[in-house]
Amino acid sequence: MTEPAAAKPITNQKEQFRCIGCGAVHANAEQNFRCPKCGDLLELIYPKREVPALNPSDLKDRWLKRRLSPRPLDQSGVWRFRELLPDSSDASNVITMREGNTPIYQLSRCARAAGVERLLAKHQGMNPTGSFKDTGMTVAASFARQQGYRWVACASTGNTSASMAAYAAHGDLLSLVLVPQGKISWGKLSQALDYGAVTCELKTDFDGCMRVLSEVVQRMPIYLLNSVNPYRIEGQKTAAIELMEQLEWQVPDHVIVPGGNLGNSSALGKAFLEMKDMGLIASLPTISVIQADGANALVRTMRETAGQKLISVQPETMATAIRIGNPASWKKAVRILQQTGGTVEQVSEVEIAIAKAEIGSDGIGCEPASAVTLAGLKKLVKQGFVKSNESVVLILTGHLLKDPEFTLNYHRGELFGSKGGETAKIAHQRRSPIILDATAEAVFRTLESAEKSSDH
Ligand code: F0G
Repeated sequence: MTEPAAAKPITNQKEQFRCIGCGAVHANAEQNFRCPKCGDLLELIYPKREVPALNPSDLKDRWLKRRLSPRPLDQSGVWRFRELLPDSSDASNVITMREGNTPIYQLSRCARAAGVERLLAKHQGMNPTGSFKDTGMTVAASFARQQGYRWVACASTGNTSASMAAYAAHGDLLSLVLVPQGKISWGKLSQALDYGAVTCELKTDFDGCMRVLSEVVQRMPIYLLNSVNPYRIEGQKTAAIELMEQLEWQVPDHVIVPGGNLGNSSALGKAFLEMKDMGLIASLPTISVIQADGANALVRTMRETAGQKLISVQPETMATAIRIGNPASWKKAVRILQQTGGTVEQVSEVEIAIAKAEIGSDGIGCEPASAVTLAGLKKLVKQGFVKSNESVVLILTGHLLKDPEFTLNYHRGELFGSKGGETAKIAHQRRSPIILDATAEAVFRTLESAEKSSDH
């Protein structure tokens, strides 16, 4: 690594950094992306956005037409919406892997299980590295390059590191990953290694990794790529814009998001608020956040302090992506819940496991952290918060193959180890591998019994 230099300011002419705590507006951000006055998080605002050039129907047309263009920037499902992103004055610095462009799927079995007439999922796991992180990473990594950084870094429960390592490698940057030892899935760890990141497993949890990283970036010229970096949030906004385009700008009643460090719920909320302000949509969806009950900082913060003060927890959940006790973007998420009338809910490990298998049974699949959305929806329907005839979109954040160990353990009946009670509760969704003699008769007998128990 080159000699530590003085911290470089991160500047851009069009956007400004506004503190979400004291409201101070800054032209530059420091290495840790925190307000120099009060230490709170920053968000990007666009005071000079040229509103007349942004006529809603012209914009929608322009975005659609870009899908036909062969240019990398237009083929990206993020940069296609660049009018709502920070100005990247030099396109040659943009690192894109054609992220975004993710499908929405109808989940018929899950709809029945949840008690709603129609259920959609926007599958952000269909991004290049298999999670929603790519949509934010393309923007923030590009700005790292534009600012002349050589190193980028993140603390991660696995997906951010996989994404950052890929974009850094693709953009010729060096990357440093800090992950909690033994607490991230093998799939995600293998991605960071394969893409060439300097990958450190720290003897702590995610929150401990964040703490160490904050110190590292203050002392070395390394660009921080966690979601406290507001450029990440801007990129992640595009999932909401793309969703609205796919729904022909008809706003769903509910959008349900998993909550970990709370960057994603904040990003989607910011996108819906900006789209409403600009006249691209007529109303806001209700955005609700679901957490694992063992990593329920936001749920407790809302229930016990009405969103006034963060209640940190000692996180524990098999949905390792959201095993976070001290979520950095909690204030941004509280604001989105309040502005959209959303709620929070928590779900148990058994509920997560069953919901994940149900999403699998619709032929879609996702990683455990994404399945909290369906598990949460079931509860929200029972409580009457979501009505059976309302339209609901689940945000599935990670691909099924991110954590195959969880899935195999589930179907083999080994997920809960010796806890027989839990194993019995998930039995109805178990589909264990069947070991047979190598004869056609054995296969026929198996098909016969499968036919009898089929729900088709
Ligand atoms: N789902 C998945 C698959 C994730 O990887 C994460 C976060 C979340 C949901 C929660 O999103 O943090 O924006 O509230 N993963 C981060 C990581 C923390 O390091 O990969 P959030």
